[in-house]
Amino acid sequence: MTGDAVTSEPGSAAQRLAGRVAVVTGASSGVGRAIALRLVAEGAAVTAVGRDKTRLDALPAAAARATPAAVAGQLSPAQVDLTDDEARSALVAGLLAGPRLDILVHSAGGYASGPHAEAAIEDLDALYAANVRAPYALTQELLPALCAGGGDVVVVNSSQGVRAGANAGQFAATQHAMRAITDSLRQEVNADGIRVCGIHLGRTATPRQEAIFAKEGRPYAPELLVQPQDVAEVVAGVLSLPPGAEVTEIHLRPAKKSY
Ligand SMILES: NC(=O)c1ccc[n+]([C@@H]2O[C@H](COP(=O)([O-])OP(=O)(O)OC[C@H]3O[C@@H](n4cnc5c(N)ncnc54)[C@H](OP(=O)(O)O)[C@@H]3O)[C@@H](O)[C@H]2O)c1
Repeated sequence: MTGDAVTSEPGSAAQRLAGRVAVVTGASSGVGRAIALRLVAEGAAVTAVGRDKTRLDALPAAAARATPAAVAGQLSPAQVDLTDDEARSALVAGLLAGPRLDILVHSAGGYASGPHAEAAIEDLDALYAANVRAPYALTQELLPALCAGGGDVVVVNSSQGVRAGANAGQFAATQHAMRAITDSLRQEVNADGIRVCGIHLGRTATPRQEAIFAKEGRPYAPELLVQPQDVAEVVAGVLSLPPGAEVTEIHLRPAKKSY
């Protein structure tokens, strides 16, 4: 995997999140992986949640390669299927047993596409479970810890959560749902010192997007897409703002249109 190196020099922009405790879902791949590595580079202690054990086990070494040990926080991989209530509860119990929780980043989720006339209903159920129910439940379960000291919830969403394209009805429905949940949550928890930010991504160079290009039968040109490290940079900036300022929604898309 290339492109993990964090550009900030020790003592400059790095360590803006020193002492903060974070959970990042979807950390075994793509956007979530880049965010987890970036938060560690900024000095946070990160629980990195995913399902693929091999990729999760490789994360601490990737974090160590990306950032000098003297300035980095910590990364603890957690192999959890977030749609499994029992497994998610065990994760939550461990997190709530810790001294504090400051940051929850949702980047886990699934994807499926197809025309309404043919798309499998089972795909709709699976997308709902992974993209809506799981992050909703995880947020609910971690809110007491976030409320205790104030904190941040970041929801990685999609441009499909703003305007749905053809063949994307099932996935787009989950992203619209998460936009609604994100907006509603913000109004509920701002008074407790919790900020809530939704980030709507256009096409981003991740394994998921590579598979989408393959399915579309088009050559994959990742350099024309948003880079996961750029998303991570944005998230680090959002989280580093003074507590009195809240970024509510961001739309990040490739500057050059390749499709
Ligand atoms: N890439 C894009 O172009 C793009 C565009 C718009 C929005 N987004 C959003 O960005 C986020 C990340 O996308 P990505 O491109 O980075 O996707 P990705 O490379 O496919 O990664 C998805 C991540 O979610 C995890 N995950 C999926 N289901 C899970 C479950 N049930 N329990 C725990 N973890 C689960 C995966 O874990 P394992 O791999 O370990 O199974 C993986 O870490 C998504 O919310 C997506 O909607 C991406």
